[in-house]
Amino acid sequence: MSLPDYLACLDGAVMPLSQVKISPLDRAFLFGDAIYEVLRVYGGKAYLADEHFQRLENSLAAIRIHGIDINETRRRMDNLLARANCPEAMVYIQITRGAAPRKHAFPKDTPPLELLWVQAYDDGPTAVKRQQGVGVITHPDLRWKRCDVKSVNLLGNLLANQAAAEADCDEALLYNDAGFLTEGSHSSFFAVIDGALVTTPGGNTILPGITRLITFRLAPQAGVAVREQQLHRHDVDKVQELFLTGTTSEVLPIVRVDGKPIAGGEPGPVTRALQRAFTEAVRQSAKIA
Ligand code: PDD
Repeated sequence: MSLPDYLACLDGAVMPLSQVKISPLDRAFLFGDAIYEVLRVYGGKAYLADEHFQRLENSLAAIRIHGIDINETRRRMDNLLARANCPEAMVYIQITRGAAPRKHAFPKDTPPLELLWVQAYDDGPTAVKRQQGVGVITHPDLRWKRCDVKSVNLLGNLLANQAAAEADCDEALLYNDAGFLTEGSHSSFFAVIDGALVTTPGGNTILPGITRLITFRLAPQAGVAVREQQLHRHDVDKVQELFLTGTTSEVLPIVRVDGKPIAGGEPGPVTRALQRAFTEAVRQSAKIA
């Protein structure tokens, strides 16, 4: 398979991604000892960059990777975006604990490694799904107990998402041992219950999604309250609406769960109102740029 080439920045040096060389002793490769961020770029500007960089800082602190100046990382991202000249794009940022002889405990005096790249983003296929809605499956949440950290350890997420793909679905909603839904394999989710938005309480069982956060902020515009409350997988067919949120998904209606239609199999009015509010917020932000 030929791999796409993107404009990348490795520890401050700009180069094509194909020229990036990383040691096999890098701890991200050996242990998944790394954290990451994904940002969406609209009109050449990284959307909600303050929020993404705050989460990046939190992830670094949580796994005790020191020696990264995130203001410098952000300058590098802005510089890369200016050079890539790619108005509709995605930025991927990964910071690893660096390369060292293979030992579980953290190495001393090993500088972290920082990699960024910018890739063009074609929203076309997702835009169609935003109109029509998607099907999801439910799947056991096999992940660890610090899902609030945006770590590159994603095997539990991958296994669930692969099961969704094999069922011709777009996403897997994960449920814990007690049967309560946590989040999607790569997205947050909301239900509409009695006219209010309901989503899993923040904490270590979910990633604090940036699109989840913006959905909280936009809810008043859509005329709805938000409640953080657990939803049991067996109650999912009682909800009025269901949707996913994520950096590239934005606000994505769910119309089928495990093959059964949700709310008549059509995206609902609250979801639609939030989609409009989201699009308007993006438009405003790109205008200010
Ligand atoms: N995924 N939950 C999980 C487990 C995620 O991996 C993501 C994002 C989200 C949504 O977060 P946000 O709104 O900040 O994108 C929730 C990214 C995009 C990814 O892994 O590609």
